[in-house]
Amino acid sequence: MSITYNQSNRVFTLQTKSSTYQMKISEHGHLLHLYYGKSILDADVSYLIPNVIRSHESNPAEAGEDRVYSLCAYPQEFSSNDVGDYRVPSIELVNFDGSYAFVGKYHSHKIVHGKYQLSALPTLFAGANEKADTLEIVLEDEITHVSVKLLYGVFEGKDIITRAVILCNGSQGELRLQRLMSASIDFMTDGFDMIDLFGHHYFERQTDRRPLSHGINEIGSFRGASGHFHNPFAILCDRKTDEDQGNAYGFALMYSGNFVFDAEVDGYSQTRVAMGIHPKQFEFRLAKGECFEAPEVVLSYSANGLSKLSHNFHDIFRENACESRFVHEERPILLNSWEPFRFTFDSEQLIKTAKLSQKLGADMFVLDDGWFGTRNDETSGLGDWVANAQKLPEGIPAFAEKIHSMGMKFGLWFEPEMVNEDSDLYRAHPDWCLRIPGRAPSRSRHQLCLDLSRPDVCDYLMKAVNSVLDSGGVDYVKWDYNRYVCDVYSQYYPADRQGEIYHRYMLGLYRLLDGIIKTHPDILFEGCSGGGGRFDGAMLTYFPQIWCSDNTDAPSRLTIQYGTSFAYPVCTMGAHVSVCPNKKTKRTVPWETRAVTAMHGTFGYELDPAKMSEQEIAACAEYTAFYKKHRELIANGDYYRLSSPYDDSIFTAWQFVSKDKSESLVFAVTQDISILDQNCYIHLRGLESDHFYRIKQTGRTLSGAALAHIGILLPHTRPQYSAFVFELKKIERE
Ligand code: GLA
Repeated sequence: MSITYNQSNRVFTLQTKSSTYQMKISEHGHLLHLYYGKSILDADVSYLIPNVIRSHESNPAEAGEDRVYSLCAYPQEFSSNDVGDYRVPSIELVNFDGSYAFVGKYHSHKIVHGKYQLSALPTLFAGANEKADTLEIVLEDEITHVSVKLLYGVFEGKDIITRAVILCNGSQGELRLQRLMSASIDFMTDGFDMIDLFGHHYFERQTDRRPLSHGINEIGSFRGASGHFHNPFAILCDRKTDEDQGNAYGFALMYSGNFVFDAEVDGYSQTRVAMGIHPKQFEFRLAKGECFEAPEVVLSYSANGLSKLSHNFHDIFRENACESRFVHEERPILLNSWEPFRFTFDSEQLIKTAKLSQKLGADMFVLDDGWFGTRNDETSGLGDWVANAQKLPEGIPAFAEKIHSMGMKFGLWFEPEMVNEDSDLYRAHPDWCLRIPGRAPSRSRHQLCLDLSRPDVCDYLMKAVNSVLDSGGVDYVKWDYNRYVCDVYSQYYPADRQGEIYHRYMLGLYRLLDGIIKTHPDILFEGCSGGGGRFDGAMLTYFPQIWCSDNTDAPSRLTIQYGTSFAYPVCTMGAHVSVCPNKKTKRTVPWETRAVTAMHGTFGYELDPAKMSEQEIAACAEYTAFYKKHRELIANGDYYRLSSPYDDSIFTAWQFVSKDKSESLVFAVTQDISILDQNCYIHLRGLESDHFYRIKQTGRTLSGAALAHIGILLPHTRPQYSAFVFELKKIERE
């Protein structure tokens, strides 16, 4: 069993392949966090808590005259509130009697086979033949009888531990919950660097690495979505940790709404990490007997640097997040209409485009924004999911049939959560969007946000989208979300429940996604949010792939995809070849470089093939064929970042290695060409050092050791933004 409880010293130990997580019930019933890190054999490591008096710390009443026992100096598993632990708390609430205190004391526990699930929030699941176990520990406040159930899911073979919390109000009256962290971990020391992913539209998931300083180091979102600006993922690692060595801890929240990640270094240089729903404008009223679920956090530890940490996250997100059959299927090569046509097209032109896209090797045509209602620009039509009579007089099923008759699949764009004021939906239900009574709502992209906290709005949307899908012909849906939430007020709920709306929106969204996606198992759904504004673990439970960014400029994609790869597998990143000069950056790079960069994901095109020359079409057909040949390795192999696009290096390179290490693919794109004559080697990773590999492009056979330590010599003729590809196969020694 990966979870044990030692009755004699009251220690819980969670064991994965290479990590150990340990907690202990203290003599006064508090649950202490003892350890998370490299596998250890010891049964009880509580000696690491020093036996010293911390002056000016309070001691709980039950500790009597013991000056050592202090909640602020001891490492806590789920920290209390208003009883002397002054660090970022796991919980904040107002009890029925107006007090703010919560002290969770051990009440009971249960160890069960299998992975727990939450009732209304997305979670990871265990595969059919996969071993996963659950630990539930109930802590209860002995005075108020408010309790929290701490849930731990242990994926032993994948070095993953998940956590979630369910709070139940066992008190005599209503409580107001103002903060409930999904996970909190106390480390006895400091010295960590924090790596997180920041950015904005067209510039998602850039990496930041900084030493934690004393005080609270925080990232988060309160935009109503996980967002472009910070991703609900962070790493703590040692200062010297690099791709191959050093301690690294990863934290990913399975939630697509407001979130916070706090890393606090206190005055004793101890570090507390807490992650969960952002407490800003959050207040949930729970009547006596009611419960509240906090979303799941996915934790992983690597003793061998960042590559291994990323592999752990890649494996779990690839295999244990999304139940769609498409996760394990080869994804279609698509051509999307957005960049070439935006809102201006007609059926005949689209059919011609689809036909031509076959020459590029595309097997699916995706009709993006502009196909419905009066949608001829951004200002109208959003919300009216009926085909635009001028552009598509035949309607969606008949149009889809024309695409199918060419032997292609057909995909369609939706943005169900939004509405334009100039739409039939808004005219019929102006009260269905988020807005504060008496205050004109803020628009973004000329649109308002529908109030998904309302069950009637979700029911309507489910019907409206399902009726298009059920009328047939749609093989793929791109689900977009193109503005953030503000004016957060729902006319459906009373004034004193408005602090629930942000979270109720998410609950509504997940119910809507369940009701549309899970009822259409034969449709491939791709997530999107103004590019990659909602790229998170929870979205990956619905969408096998997510459009990574609206920025299709290859050099820009190098940093976006590099950052994304710290948490999320390459098979989840939508990446397309588009025209140059690039629409956003105005930069021109060779076709091959655009193609190679788009192979860092689910490959496709976003251009008008009618504007390409015969040679360009032929070249792209070759790139598509190359991608198809290697897509299994790209989707399921281990991914290595060989160099960082942020360094002043001549090239950015990345590599895929098959799980059995028999095959590998290396891609490189040159960036800095000012150093003309410097010898430059790409050092490979993940190969078997004592085996030999033939490199197709150079004709050489080299040992895994040589490829790692000496590397592949990059040709000296290497114009800026040129791409290099190396295919390697393991061979028996000659
Ligand atoms: C967002 C998406 C784009 C495209 C447009 C359509 O910006 O990221 O890919 O679908 O919306 O309006």
